[in-house]
Amino acid sequence: MLRSRRPAAKTKELRGRADAEIRAEGLGHAFRGGPLLFENVSFRFRRGDVVAICGPSGSGKSTLLSILAGWEKPVEGQIDKPGIRTTGWVFQNPHGVAHRTALDHVAFPLLAQGSSRRDASDRARDVLSGFGLENTAERPFHALSGGEAQRLMLARAVCIAPDLLLVDEPTAQLDQTTARTVNATLRHVADGGSIVLVATHDQGTRDACTYTVDLAAHPLTERTSVVSNLEGGKDESNSDPLRSGA
Ligand SMILES: Nc1ncnc2c1ncn2[C@@H]1O[C@H](COP(=O)(O)OP(=O)(O)OP(=O)(O)O)[C@@H](O)[C@H]1O
Ligand SMILES: [Mg+2]
Repeated sequence: MLRSRRPAAKTKELRGRADAEIRAEGLGHAFRGGPLLFENVSFRFRRGDVVAICGPSGSGKSTLLSILAGWEKPVEGQIDKPGIRTTGWVFQNPHGVAHRTALDHVAFPLLAQGSSRRDASDRARDVLSGFGLENTAERPFHALSGGEAQRLMLARAVCIAPDLLLVDEPTAQLDQTTARTVNATLRHVADGGSIVLVATHDQGTRDACTYTVDLAAHPLTERTSVVSNLEGGKDESNSDPLRSGA
């Protein structure tokens, strides 16, 4: 079972936060007058899971993220999010406040949660350095490179520590080296206790994830699960699309 393969250190780290899950059963969606983009998408993920949502351009990856966020209502199926109280988004084109520093972007959510200015600043610097951004702390957002801005948004997500983090194409604009650092940070966010779902075309991102939901994996006529486990070969628990062991 998947639970038993989770490293002890990680299990310890995640302990102390109430259980949270996202479950989808038989999801399907079409926009008004358009074709069915996907159907029968079923999965169940928990804190610490990092999931790649894959498929060709136009297959519905961003749409699926919107459905999971609750912005779009699916035409088929249902979603349950027990224990999920906070949801974060990291968009493909990172949005920030141009004149605010990188440090401000990461410290602000901590201040909003009631931290003192000193504590927020110390913690924000620690997190920035975990993302290789220690030298950007005092720079305004507009002066960051695309890769730095993307990592900054993920660093901010670590501070917010949402129960569910939705990330759309985090590496689409990045060179391979920067993409690798961004991919490595996805696991870092999940280890903080989030469920991380990432829409991506990037094989490196896919490899960095524990699971993949492939919207192109099966013809739409097949009633099969689109979830596969990348965590180490065949796993019988995966024969159930709503993993009973999860
Ligand atoms: N609000 C909308 N109304 C109608 N059609 C839409 C809407 N949003 C998206 N679509 C269409 O739905 C399809 C899936 O779009 P979506 O953005 O989810 O694809 P994607 O897999 O994320 O693609 P990409 O890899 O290019 O980002 C596309 O054909 C798109 O034009
Ligand atoms: Mg998209």
